[in-house]
Amino acid sequence: MIYMLDTADLEAIKRGNDLFPISGVTTNPSIIAKENKAFFEIMDGIRSIIGKEKMIHAQAVGKTADVIVKEAEYLNKRIGGNLYVKIPVFPEGIKAMKIMKEKGINTTATAILTSQQALMAAEAGAEYLAPYINRADDICDDGIKIVSEIVELLGVGGLNNAKILGASFKNVKQVHETILNGAKSVTVNPETFERLLYHPLTDWSIDQFDKDWQSVYGDKLTFDL
Ligand code: E4P
Repeated sequence: MIYMLDTADLEAIKRGNDLFPISGVTTNPSIIAKENKAFFEIMDGIRSIIGKEKMIHAQAVGKTADVIVKEAEYLNKRIGGNLYVKIPVFPEGIKAMKIMKEKGINTTATAILTSQQALMAAEAGAEYLAPYINRADDICDDGIKIVSEIVELLGVGGLNNAKILGASFKNVKQVHETILNGAKSVTVNPETFERLLYHPLTDWSIDQFDKDWQSVYGDKLTFDL
């Protein structure tokens, strides 16, 4: 399973990377703009927290394939390490994915709202495919159905190397069902990520363990005994 944090908030990335089995960080132009800081200050900050081995998925903002490819080359040089350039699934984006495949630049197809978009991006050479679960659910489409259709279409198309990166989550149920339906990677905002672990009875159990232990051993820890 590949978990990524969907944020550019450096404090949240520090906490998430320290506590959880995180394989990388994803951003998009809106996530970056929310921080209201210099772009490379954010990217360098993320890289210094997670190191060179873990993934950063950073989005190109160009509107033509030539410009997107130039951006991708620049981002690779400037950010370095294990980098994936995110490209939305519009015609010039698909063209950029084909060129980047030939050049050996890693790409993540993003803003996927239909399984056909995902299939074409995979055929064009994208390594990761990011379906937007909540944005689909928001307009009464079905984000989870899109995921299961992508799994099926990749099988039909013989494109099993492409990885589904579930994205745009607003709750744990969406993450859970995305994984159950075959996505082996998800990128989750920090608040929803922490809720993957939350259960009131877990908290109650931990409190109860503490009370029972302290009633006999006080504040001593196992290595004090
Ligand atoms: C990540 O790759 C996506 O850009 C992100 O998950 C979109 O999330 P949102 O729909 O919550 O903005």
